[in-house]
Amino acid sequence: MATVIDGKAVAQTIRSEIAEEVRALSQKYGKVPGLAVVIVGNRKDSQSYVGMKRKACAELGIKSFDIDLPEQVSESDLIKQVHQLNVNPDVHGILVQLPLPKHINEEKVLSEISLEKDVDGFHPLNIGKLAMKDRDPLFLPCTPKACIELLSRSGVSIKGKKAVVVGRSNIVGLPASLLLLKADATVTIVHSRTTQPESIIREADIVIAAAGQPMMIKGSWIKPGAAVIDVGTNAVDDPTKKSGYRLVGDVDFEEASKVAGWITPVPGGVGPMTVTMLLHNTLEGAKRCFE
Ligand code: GUN
Repeated sequence: MATVIDGKAVAQTIRSEIAEEVRALSQKYGKVPGLAVVIVGNRKDSQSYVGMKRKACAELGIKSFDIDLPEQVSESDLIKQVHQLNVNPDVHGILVQLPLPKHINEEKVLSEISLEKDVDGFHPLNIGKLAMKDRDPLFLPCTPKACIELLSRSGVSIKGKKAVVVGRSNIVGLPASLLLLKADATVTIVHSRTTQPESIIREADIVIAAAGQPMMIKGSWIKPGAAVIDVGTNAVDDPTKKSGYRLVGDVDFEEASKVAGWITPVPGGVGPMTVTMLLHNTLEGAKRCFE
């Protein structure tokens, strides 16, 4: 049976470490880190994510700047807002929650965020540096950073291992594969056009699943002893729940946990760690600014 990686517990440990550093900075400089979280429109999922991020800031003594804009906001007004945050000395991190409404060019908005405040790590220049050998971005994207942190805190070494990333999104799959490459893994990306993904996944010592397909990865696809990090957060109907649904990952946990060496559950695996990495990035941004 696999060791189940308790993301909630790891996240709690790291959050205590961050809170301690925030206290120390506040004593030394009389200032605390600040994170601006910008949300456009009323998407339920985005509001729930943004709520978690703002709440976590409050718990750790990080000041959150809440910017809530209507669905109809123009691209230029949103960019103006970003420019104001760029020059606000109390803001050390800026996060624009994605996806943005269709009339706004996401890439354009993300490129306007000051590099020094790009705590999501989505600025094209930060992603570019992530893709290059011997260059370091100022910030690592939060979910891929969470995956690597969970592996390293569980004692799974990455160097020289065969890693397979399932999914090639800008937010998770692509940057996760670049981060694994930086950590000296041999990396393969499996995506929706890959033929026979199972035969490739079966070779992997490390699997990062970020396809957004409920329980797509079966136990028989996993190499015995592999480390499996499940980023999927899929809502599936479940009439036995009061809400009418439950969350499942991209991996069939029941089956895969009998074969893998390590596995993250959904919920309680990568999810709580992602927000924690955002707070960690904000702390890093503030430290660079104060010190
Ligand atoms: N939407 C889904 N995940 C993320 C994320 O990590 N950052 C932002 N800004 N938007 C998201």
